[in-house]
Amino acid sequence: MATQTPMKTIVALPGEGIGLEVVDATCELLMGTGVPLKILTPPQGSPLPDETKKAAREADGVLFGAAGPSTSPVVSWLRWEMSAWAGVRPIRFFPGMRSPLADPDGIDYVLLRENSEGLYPGREGELADLVNVMPDLSDRTGRKIKEFGDEGRFAVKIVTPKGAERIARFACDLARKRRARGKPGKVTCITKSNVLPRTDGLYQQTAERIVREAGLEFEHFHVDDAARRLVRFPKSMDVVLCMNLYGDILSDLGAETAGGLGLAPSGNFGDDGWAYFESVHGSAPDIAGKGIANPTATILSAALMLEHMGMGAEAQRLESAVGRIYRDGKMLTPDQGGNAKTREMAQAVLAAYR
Ligand code: NAI
Ligand code: MG
Repeated sequence: MATQTPMKTIVALPGEGIGLEVVDATCELLMGTGVPLKILTPPQGSPLPDETKKAAREADGVLFGAAGPSTSPVVSWLRWEMSAWAGVRPIRFFPGMRSPLADPDGIDYVLLRENSEGLYPGREGELADLVNVMPDLSDRTGRKIKEFGDEGRFAVKIVTPKGAERIARFACDLARKRRARGKPGKVTCITKSNVLPRTDGLYQQTAERIVREAGLEFEHFHVDDAARRLVRFPKSMDVVLCMNLYGDILSDLGAETAGGLGLAPSGNFGDDGWAYFESVHGSAPDIAGKGIANPTATILSAALMLEHMGMGAEAQRLESAVGRIYRDGKMLTPDQGGNAKTREMAQAVLAAYR
């Protein structure tokens, strides 16, 4: 008797804008694959309803679309209240993707974003309040904060040893898994420790210690230099470990080198194996409602979700199906030079999956 994979339950939260279109197309594709999945679509709303939180907490996987102004509480809950602190963002070129680079073949690295600290989510205030409590806080030139006067605002960046350590360990796990598949097993850490030696410096030093203890190769670049390297030498990257804001910015840059923002997936991992999956892109109000958003980022996020749920073979099959669609080049959305609609492209991936 053939063994059957047990039914898995996933929660789909589209967010808004093109999130609706790409999640719809991806769920239709997933249902067509015959993978034993039950897809729940609980209400979103602001604040996020308790029944939705409960369903997402208990699900085997959560697939999110994209937040916009009215659905940002959804992503706030997923990322910060559920503390999905490790943002895994694979940057991978599939032949046929419309990369702006001359020779993109072989781009295949993972950008790892620390999701829970740094400058996110914003902690801001009035400069006057800060001057009140820390008038003598000075920058590295000795200029005191009170010299700015009391009109203005400030933002707080936080780095803790605990936060830096856990993301560095996560980077090591990723690098080891990749090394087992023939990748170099290298962690490239990105900070601005020359300007922020205490906060970014703590992140860098913690990462270096943990990566070296793990016996893996370590390198570090300042974020400005790193931006250039990700364009010039993307194939030299393996696991790219970023602080929160730098990871946000550089993942859009990395996505573009592979072929576009509509192609970049992510998995966001918290404690105790809880994770949610979403495209790197946002709600794209400029193209929302037209049915032309590229569903690839969400489909590849769904593949990461399948892998997370123990369906590695199905995940690989789905990635290969995406690869075939790009090689064929006939069913691509306008961002990739084609004229297929979101749903048509997803259905072409389904046909390739079958
Ligand atoms: P965006 O990622 O929504 O769009 C940037 C550009 O990329 C736009 O020109 C858009 O048309 C294009 N693009 C994005 N995804 C695409 C796809 N699948 N296919 C084809 N083209 C695609 O970033 P933007 O415009 O800065 O933000 C719009 C809204 O999304 C804002 O409210 C922002 O806060 C939110 N946002 C949410 C994110 C999330 O949910 N994780 C991430 C980034 C932005
Ligand atoms: Mg972003």
